[in-house]
Amino acid sequence: PASVRPSPPGSESPGPEVPALFGWEFATDPYPAYAWLRQHAPVRRTELPSGVEAWLVTRYADARQALADQRLSKNPGRHSEQAHGKGKVGIPGERGANLMTHLLNIDPPDHTRLRRLVSQAFTPRRVAAFEPRVRELTDRLIDAFAERGESDLIHEFAFPLPIYAICDMLGVPAQDQDDFRDWAAMMIRHGGGPRGGVGRAVKKMRGYLAELIHRKRLEPGDDLISDLIRASDHGEQLSENEAAAMAFILLFAGFETTVNLIGNGTLALLRHPAQRARFQRAAEAGDEGELGSSVEELLRYDGPVEMATWRFATEPVELAGQRIGTGDPVLVVLAAADRDPAKFNQPDVLDLARRDNQHLGYGHGIHYCLGAPLARLEGRVALGTLFRRLPDLQLAADTGDLRWRGGLIMRGLRSLPVTFA
Ligand code: HEM
Repeated sequence: PASVRPSPPGSESPGPEVPALFGWEFATDPYPAYAWLRQHAPVRRTELPSGVEAWLVTRYADARQALADQRLSKNPGRHSEQAHGKGKVGIPGERGANLMTHLLNIDPPDHTRLRRLVSQAFTPRRVAAFEPRVRELTDRLIDAFAERGESDLIHEFAFPLPIYAICDMLGVPAQDQDDFRDWAAMMIRHGGGPRGGVGRAVKKMRGYLAELIHRKRLEPGDDLISDLIRASDHGEQLSENEAAAMAFILLFAGFETTVNLIGNGTLALLRHPAQRARFQRAAEAGDEGELGSSVEELLRYDGPVEMATWRFATEPVELAGQRIGTGDPVLVVLAAADRDPAKFNQPDVLDLARRDNQHLGYGHGIHYCLGAPLARLEGRVALGTLFRRLPDLQLAADTGDLRWRGGLIMRGLRSLPVTFA
C-alpha cells in the first residue's frame, strides 16, 4: 500500500505518524486517515496505487472551492498518458473512442451545451413519474428472496435495481435488460482495470446503444433516448454519437453509485440500531419526507463516491496554501469533506435527524450530479421498502468480514450477506 511520506511541507519536526492510504485497512475504514489529512495536510500531493501523483483535497471548504474552480479542468491535456493509469474513472477499452465525450470528461462551452440538451430530456417530471415503476421493481426484487430468510443484498438487490431502472428509463426493451445487467456486472467486477472482459462489455454496450438510437430515431417512443434525440437547443441537436455517449454516461454514472448508496446505506443502518429504528418507523408510516432526509444523511455519512472524478490544473492554482502546478491532477475527496468538523456538528455520528445537510455527495458546481433526483428516488424507495418489508433484517457475517471494493473513486461493498425471518 502507498503511504504518505512523513513531515508535512513547511514543518521541521517529523510530526505525528502518517496513516497508510489505499491499503486493505484503509478500504475498510478510510475515515481516520482522512481526519489526519484534514488536520495535518489538507491539500496534499500523494502517490496513488497506480504510481500517479495527485493532490488530495480533504477539507469541506477547500473541496467546495475546488469543485467550483473553472481552472481545474476535466481535460488531462498533455498529462493524459499519466492520468490513464489504474484508478482512472474512464472506461477501459474506450480510449479516444466517442463514448468518452460525455459530461464528466468535458469543460464549457461543450459541457454547457450538452448539459442543457440532456436536461430537456432528463427532467424532474420524468423522474417523479417514474416512482411507481421503481416501487414495482423494488418489490419484485425483494419478492425473489423474501421467503428464503437470507440474501446477499448487493447481488440480489442493490446491484440489479439501478441497472433495470435506468434501462427502463432509457427505453431498453425488457428482453434486452439482462444483457445490460451482465455487461454492467463485468464492468463493476473488473472496475478500473483494462482487462479483457471490460473492453468487450463496453464494446457490446456501445454497439447495442448505437443500434437502439438508430431504431428510436425512426420510431420514437415515450422514453429518455427518444427525448434525447428530440432535444434541441437553438436549433442544435445531439448527434447520434453524442446521444450514445449520453446514454452511456447515464448508465455508467448512475449505476455503481446507486448500488453503493443502497449497500452502504443498508450497512450503516444495520450498524446503528437507534437510527435504524427511527428509519423503520418512518418507513412503516410512509413518511417520505423523513425517509428522504435520512437518505441524505446516509450519503453524507458513507457516500458512494469517495472521490470526485479527476480534475487537472490549467494554470497554477493556490489552495489552502499549496501551489498546484499546471497539469497536476487533483482529486477532491468528497468522503473526507463530508466528515469535516468545521462544517458538520459531530461529523462521525450518523444522525438521521440532521437538517440543512449540505453534503458534497453529489458534487458541486457545473458537474453536480445530473441524476441526483433519480438517485434520491431510488435510495428512498429501495431502503424504505427493504426495512419495511424485512423489519428484522440482520447482518449475517461479522461486520469485520465485510469486504470493500477498494477502487479509488467509488466506495462500496463486494457483498452484504443478511438474514431475516
Ligand atoms: C455526476 C454522485 C447517481 C448521472 C456526479 C458527481 C457526483 C455524483 C459526485 C460529480 C462528479 C465530479 O464532479 O467529478 C452520484 C451519487 C449517486 C449518483 C452519489 C447515487 C447515489 C446518479 C444517477 C445518474 C447520475 C442515478 C443518472 C441516471 C450523473 C451524470 C453526472 C454525474 C450524468 C455528470 C454531470 C456533469 O458532468 O455535468 N454524480 N451520482 N448519477 N452523475 Fe451522479
